[in-house]
Amino acid sequence: MSTAPSAVRAGGRVNLIGEHTDYTGGLAVPMAIDQGTTVRVHERGDLVHLTSDHDPRPAVVRLDVTDASTVEPPWARYVAGVVAELRPAVGITGTVTSDLPIGAGLSSSASLEIAVATALGFDGSPLALAQLCQRAEQRAAGVPCGLMDQLAIACGTAGAALLLDCTSLTVQPLPLPVSLTVVAVHSGQSRRLVGSEYARRRAECAAAEELVGPLRSASREDVERLTDPLLRRRARHVVTENARVRDFVAALLQGDVAAAGHLVDQSHRSLRDDFAVSTPTVDELVERLRAVPGVRGARMTGAGFGGMVIGVCDAGVPLPAWLSGATLRAATGVTRP
Ligand code: GLA
Repeated sequence: MSTAPSAVRAGGRVNLIGEHTDYTGGLAVPMAIDQGTTVRVHERGDLVHLTSDHDPRPAVVRLDVTDASTVEPPWARYVAGVVAELRPAVGITGTVTSDLPIGAGLSSSASLEIAVATALGFDGSPLALAQLCQRAEQRAAGVPCGLMDQLAIACGTAGAALLLDCTSLTVQPLPLPVSLTVVAVHSGQSRRLVGSEYARRRAECAAAEELVGPLRSASREDVERLTDPLLRRRARHVVTENARVRDFVAALLQGDVAAAGHLVDQSHRSLRDDFAVSTPTVDELVERLRAVPGVRGARMTGAGFGGMVIGVCDAGVPLPAWLSGATLRAATGVTRP
């Protein structure tokens, strides 16, 4: 454990493409964003005691906490999950402030976990930080999430998206071309069923893998041999999404916004039709965003069932008033201001 910093800021993340691929060892291209969570430490002690600008009820967590999932208020579960995984010798008293929309699909929980773990003095590689916070999230929310959110934040790089390979656990920064901007808008639909349906999708992918082997290396032909139509659709999404990620990386490297946007559109259709994690409200917003001049592709982002929609746009094209403030910048994931 290092000397703990007195303030830490961790960004949120937005996923550009490669959705529901991480937990089968697949590929994704998220980026850390400049909206995030700040933890300020006022003093050290034998408890973790944090107040929040989003909830009048503080997180008060004992250093020997075991069951994070029952801690109240609910936001404190993520703090407790980190404490249970990190087992710090010394606690902190401080404040949490956040300018991320909570529960919208920009990983407010992963951002909180990374900020708290760092403020508590976590001292290890970005990968180890991400893995610790993934376990914290699983403890807190009881959802078998993958590694993407935490890894994107832990490795976040200003001006770059990140190619995550969830088999080799490697991260490659991909500088965003100046010709491209990313916008994100909330569908207004709070994410319902996300925990139970997420676990179900994960189980369906595991069932498909029992039959065709790892989806990361499966071909389209392998997938089409699946006789169960539901497992075939789920597996088809994952296999084609990994292929789209590779093509998207090539498009980014060439600065080809139209090609990148086309892949983003295809990703949405696959998530809607094969993976069944979109909603009519989200689909409508995707269409509305897609119709804006300069928007070259749009899709749901994150786990689904509501939340945010992103657009990949030509830089410099004036956006309509309803998209003012929607532009996201790729930012450093973890800073100690
Ligand atoms: C959530 C999970 C991630 C990932 C996405 C879907 O954000 O936390 O691990 O699986 O859903 O791509």
